Amino acid sequence: MANKKYVISIDQGTTSSRAIVFDHDGQIVSVGQLEHEQIFPHAGWVEHDPKEIWNNTREAIGQALSKASITRHDIVSVGITNQRETTVVWDKFTGEPVYNAIVWQDTRTQKIVEELSADGGKERFKSIVGLPLDTYFAGTKIKWILDNVEGARERAEAGDLLFGTTDSWVIWNLTGGVNGGVHVTDVTNASRTLLMDIRTLQWREDIAQVFGIPTSMLPEIKPSSGEFGIVEDNQLLREVPITGVLGDQQSATFGQAAFDAGESKNTYGTGCFLIFNTGEEVVESENGLLTTVGYKLGDEPTHYALEGSIAVAGSLVQWLRDNLRMIDSAPEIEKLAKTVEDNGGAYVVPAFSGLYAPYWRPDARGAIVGLTRYVNRGHIARAVQESTAYQTADVMDAVNKDSGVPLTELRVDGGMTANEDLMQFQADILGVDVVRPAVTETTALGAAYAAGLAVGYWSDLGELKTNWAEGKRWTPNMDEAERERLLRLWHKAVTKSFDWVDDDVN
Ligand SMILES: Nc1ncnc2c1ncn2[C@@H]1O[C@H](COP(=O)(O)OP(=O)(O)OP(=O)(O)O)[C@@H](O)[C@H]1O
Ligand SMILES: [Mg+2]
Repeated sequence: MANKKYVISIDQGTTSSRAIVFDHDGQIVSVGQLEHEQIFPHAGWVEHDPKEIWNNTREAIGQALSKASITRHDIVSVGITNQRETTVVWDKFTGEPVYNAIVWQDTRTQKIVEELSADGGKERFKSIVGLPLDTYFAGTKIKWILDNVEGARERAEAGDLLFGTTDSWVIWNLTGGVNGGVHVTDVTNASRTLLMDIRTLQWREDIAQVFGIPTSMLPEIKPSSGEFGIVEDNQLLREVPITGVLGDQQSATFGQAAFDAGESKNTYGTGCFLIFNTGEEVVESENGLLTTVGYKLGDEPTHYALEGSIAVAGSLVQWLRDNLRMIDSAPEIEKLAKTVEDNGGAYVVPAFSGLYAPYWRPDARGAIVGLTRYVNRGHIARAVQESTAYQTADVMDAVNKDSGVPLTELRVDGGMTANEDLMQFQADILGVDVVRPAVTETTALGAAYAAGLAVGYWSDLGELKTNWAEGKRWTPNMDEAERERLLRLWHKAVTKSFDWVDDDVN
């Protein structure tokens, strides 16, 4: 191993695919990145082209290797992290997807959720799988494809089709595709399907049957750190082992070195996800959080987490950019928001996919409220920025209630944390310090850690902890009465988004 200096991590995200080379200190050596198209065929529908994702992934790997002037011989192992829940179904003989990837934010499976909930309610499987029935999770999306793509169910029952989240899709292709590609996933990704028992880490035949999903489609579930497969001969990374896989939010938690019970992080990307590590204990939330697998290293015990998922955070900024054209780039929101002193009374509730945690209201849709003739584009930009902080406050409140021990600070990462005013506002509205590490690409870093641990590149979690370094800290600076006033109005705004979807409304 002496001559192998690096680990490469592939981050197959919602908006882009990245490949990042990390060194032994957990520092970034090089980055390759390509965005892919967001396909919106109807209101509430969100798709990606799996072929584009795979091509971009290959190209990102090439970019990262070439920018670092290294080859596969310098790489000890590959880690993979990915947008979770996004569902790909493909033909194992041709390698062709039978449909576009249905993205996690997609709400088309609302009717399926209602049908499945008719007998036993939305929480009928929650004590087994950790999740309520919701459009968010992969199981409902697989069912939609089997129900709606011509011939898909027959082909699935014949054993010709494979399901995977994008980790599985990328690994299958990296390891040979139709020529012997391996069909695997890790425990964290599997915990987002509605089909895995979170205690035994096995697929539940009975639940799959209720969904009408043949278990032959499902990937083999592996620990997050261990052998997944070897990259095939005609890839740049040929013969390099894939030894770490974590869903993006669990990966960011791992990359933040939040390995132990009571530790947490909040990632601000397309959506926003607060994860609270509960150690080896499966904790059932009483406040609208999900129970999810945090990580599992080889044969060691499984670590669990509570999660507060927020569907829309950075994507609201993109909506301001792409749909309303109020800004030309995401960071420009900072300048626009600074043109005003406050939100001018305006609140944006970005319930584009309904509301996730802690509300779980699929019937909600986006709302801008508190408008008067006074409100201008600066106020809207400000309200957009603030909405992420308010949503985080709601989730953190749920975490505090579930754990009984209020968080004393919040570790953050993700693209939106570049926005300093937002981070200050976040500290103000939470009343606790917000801390950003020196390396903010924690999503990619976590999978690199899992991959490196498996091959002995890093010896243990203690060694990884020493890699974590504080980058910047924001301390609350708002008086209590003002914080309470803003949160009161926000909560009023949230209620205005409820109960919008009727049978003939998407
Ligand atoms: N200065 C900024 N202020 C507010 N939002 C920002 C800023 N810069 C970037 N963003 C938002 O951050 C998001 C990008 O963050 P990040 O790169 O972590 O997401 P991502 O990893 O691409 O998401 P995903 O993993 O879901 O693909 C975008 O949605 C963008 O709108
Ligand atoms: Mg990401």
